[in-house]
Amino acid sequence: MGPDATAELPPWWRQAVVYQIYPRSFADANGDGLGDIPGIISRADYLLALGIDAVWLSPFYPSALADGGYDVADYRDVDPRLGTLADFDALVEALHSRGMRIVVDIVPNHTSDLHPWFQEALAAAPGSPARDRYIFREGTGPDGSEPPTDWHSMFGGSAWERVPGGQWYLHNFAIEQPDLDWSSEEVRDDFVRTLRFWSDRGVDGFRIDVAHMLTKDMTEPLLSRHELAELPRDGQHPMIDRDDVHEVYAEWRNVFDSYDPPRTAVAEAWVDKERVPLYASAESLGQAFNFDLLQADFDAAQFRTVVQDNLDLAATSGSSSTWVLSNHDVVRHATRYGLPHPGRDAEGNPARKHGVDWVLSGGTDPELDREGGERRARAATLFMLGLPGSSYLYQGEELGLHEVAEIPDADRQDPTFFRSPGVDKGRDGCRVPLPWSPDGPSFGFGDDGSHLPQPPWFAAHAVSGQESDPGSTLRLYQRGLELRGILQTDESLEWVETGRADVLHFRRPNGWNVMTNFGTEPYPLMVDEALLFSVGGPQHDLPGATTVWFTRES
Ligand code: NOJ
Repeated sequence: MGPDATAELPPWWRQAVVYQIYPRSFADANGDGLGDIPGIISRADYLLALGIDAVWLSPFYPSALADGGYDVADYRDVDPRLGTLADFDALVEALHSRGMRIVVDIVPNHTSDLHPWFQEALAAAPGSPARDRYIFREGTGPDGSEPPTDWHSMFGGSAWERVPGGQWYLHNFAIEQPDLDWSSEEVRDDFVRTLRFWSDRGVDGFRIDVAHMLTKDMTEPLLSRHELAELPRDGQHPMIDRDDVHEVYAEWRNVFDSYDPPRTAVAEAWVDKERVPLYASAESLGQAFNFDLLQADFDAAQFRTVVQDNLDLAATSGSSSTWVLSNHDVVRHATRYGLPHPGRDAEGNPARKHGVDWVLSGGTDPELDREGGERRARAATLFMLGLPGSSYLYQGEELGLHEVAEIPDADRQDPTFFRSPGVDKGRDGCRVPLPWSPDGPSFGFGDDGSHLPQPPWFAAHAVSGQESDPGSTLRLYQRGLELRGILQTDESLEWVETGRADVLHFRRPNGWNVMTNFGTEPYPLMVDEALLFSVGGPQHDLPGATTVWFTRES
């Protein structure tokens, strides 16, 4: 293949498999109970053997961990407990030399309260330039002791916190995460510096946290929570998904495109469906997450609708679609599919507690069907990996890990738990350090403890045991990703009718077929199919909760 042919290949990210690492829980090289960057480097061959295209690192920056690292105190450094910038460079090298790319998380909506800017703002007088980088307001009530508005933080409780001297600042998430004011030139310039800083170090792309909330119209009088909720989401809402946020991303796009190859970005934007293409367009961030699959039940009709809707949506922006079944914010999919009504209240409505938006957070339930959940999770994963677009995997799902429900309250770390208070179990259960071996201190995570307690059942999921077991979930992921690499084809699919409401079948342009039985009754397979791969080995019937990949000549 000549150089010209290479230039015509679609960009790598369009159909990549991206593996999310939550750095503090992946591997601990220095035995302090907290995962670190040298730990990730020590597992680079594991990542290579898994067969992923890229690693996405959740925040590894200096942080007091008020929100698992999404409270960033310095955007251009590594938390000393996780390593150094030299370690980061070594990680980039370890991944690149093995043919993998690296994506880092950028958290632009808010800083940590320990960020020098916020410390400066606290020391400065009301109305000073230092306070203008954030959103400070006077309180209400005769002595200003009431918050400026009745707004709720996403994690529960008021969205305002009072500082000594009397003013209040806005924090849409934890108290320790003051919202930045994106009308400040200094804020904008600083993030451009940050994007360049990491791009210059060889980072291939960025995941943009809360991408839909940066710009705000804080013109007074501020509306009440109920008034805000009544407003249309038409790009003019004072706080959410404003059209003018794309002015920020247009500037970022220039930064991304000034590199060769261009740096990429994916938006975490919880917006109405028809507004997603704005974030995914080539003039903006280029790709956007859709979280529809992780909010769907293990159900053929729901999966088909989600897939078709999102392929149609991706076509309107020219981006590729993204698929996610698990991440660091939701109950692991093995557990969701093992519960009778995951994330639902008694009436079957999505559970939203105390204004907390994480529909599926909240630990597990005594009725968990562990094996059934794992089986359905494997089937859903193989279905997802057959789809056109990018799949985002979350560390530990390749081990079939369940949510850890049994974390004692005293060990919990997630602000959603404390601010609910205690009603929402929070997101710690999917962030427990990985088991690498069936025994030893912290199951091989490190030489000592683990910052969140690991349950005894982690032993059965350990990497070392699964590597040597051909029937393990890990081996299934490895084989699936290997085959996916070989089978990859154009970004389209064609549905094939199966005559059964609980069985989905789609075909990719090169004859790669994916069929999933979401029900319990076996489904007969045709005889002329060249079976590539299935959850349960070669078979003539497709059992319930099983996905099969095959090629068919015709
Ligand atoms: C989304 C992140 O995924 C979540 O973990 C975090 O708590 C919020 N953004 C706030 O940064």
